[in-house]
Amino acid sequence: MSSRPIYLDCHATTPVDERVLAAMLPFFTEHFGNPSSISHVYGWEAEAAVKQTREILAAAINATPEEIIFTSGATEANNLAIKGVAEAYFQKGQHIITVVTEHSAVLDPCKYLKTLGFEMTFLSVQKDGLIDLTELEKAFRPDTILVSVMAANNEIGVLQPLAEIGAMCRERNVLFHSDAAQAIGKIPLDVQALKIDLMSLTAHKVYGPKGIGALYVRRRNPRVQLAPQQHGGGHERGMRSGTLYTPQIVGFGKAVEIALQEQATETERLTQLRQRLWEQLSQLKGIHLNGHPTQRLPGNLNISVEGVDGSALLLGLQSVMAVSSGSACSSATTAPSHVLTALGHSEALAYASIRFGIGRFNTAEEIDKVAQHTIATIQSLRKQGSFAMHNR
Ligand SMILES: Cc1ncc(COP(=O)(O)O)c(C=O)c1O
Repeated sequence: MSSRPIYLDCHATTPVDERVLAAMLPFFTEHFGNPSSISHVYGWEAEAAVKQTREILAAAINATPEEIIFTSGATEANNLAIKGVAEAYFQKGQHIITVVTEHSAVLDPCKYLKTLGFEMTFLSVQKDGLIDLTELEKAFRPDTILVSVMAANNEIGVLQPLAEIGAMCRERNVLFHSDAAQAIGKIPLDVQALKIDLMSLTAHKVYGPKGIGALYVRRRNPRVQLAPQQHGGGHERGMRSGTLYTPQIVGFGKAVEIALQEQATETERLTQLRQRLWEQLSQLKGIHLNGHPTQRLPGNLNISVEGVDGSALLLGLQSVMAVSSGSACSSATTAPSHVLTALGHSEALAYASIRFGIGRFNTAEEIDKVAQHTIATIQSLRKQGSFAMHNR
């Protein structure tokens, strides 16, 4: 393991914590029952485990257990929220507001709805990655049914002003959905205080297993109507059919429980590590910090580097660290990241970007090694670049 690159891509995914794995294992072989089986102990024990996670998730976001709908992850939760609301409320209105820097799991369902005749407003962001609330205010229309704004951005880590957005939506009787895939367990989330009506969650960004997530759907003040996007056995009160994946659900609960217990200390530790990395990298000239300097996830540092080629940069870093670049990583294309170009960067600068996702298992020694190697790589590429220019 030690010869492998240092893992700093925690926005892409995280390893399953050993404590989470230990909680999950008995549910593969011993407690394997179907939580819907109501006539025997196998079903009862699985159902009890599912109930426990529902309670943990609900407590984590100040909701009730009945408001938690299990899904396969945040992609499915976003699809269910956006398409489910659109289908349930289309007679009330057909206008939806979202933001250009959202994850494709929000943008693509919105683009799909556009093909069905819905109208979309894609808000731009300011230089620091945050939305401009006056722009949001202007975007509301009498036929607006939904606003979807993420809690924390997966590339630049910025935390959008959810409380202000929630208040504006509630005042206008518009539903508010937030994709909190990157935020759950890392920052406090309270759906009552923030006036959030639907919220997407996932386990694998918070040291839980892949393939499990949830959608919070408000049941009171107001009660949100949702058209199911998957039909079948009527699980999850008809909103998402399919046998519940008990081991993953148990892992999700354990992961969130641990994250909440450690949130305060981890926030401080990760903020210090990020600061340690930034202090070293910012010694170099021509390094830009992407995203708001403080209103961001503790473990996120995203930089753009002047005077180097993006792919040469990534290639130079690969042997020492596993990081993500400024190109769109979720598809097969190599377009520059839509988030970085939305900040106003040129294509070249957007390409020459690095996302450092620092997590639970990273140490200060690793951060120093990463900083030193990044600096050396940038210096060497710049030297080669200027040499090539000089000899042209
Ligand atoms: C902000 C955001 N939304 C949605 C997703 C998709 O989540 P999942 O992998 O659980 O479908 C991700 C993960 O890539 C994300 O970062």
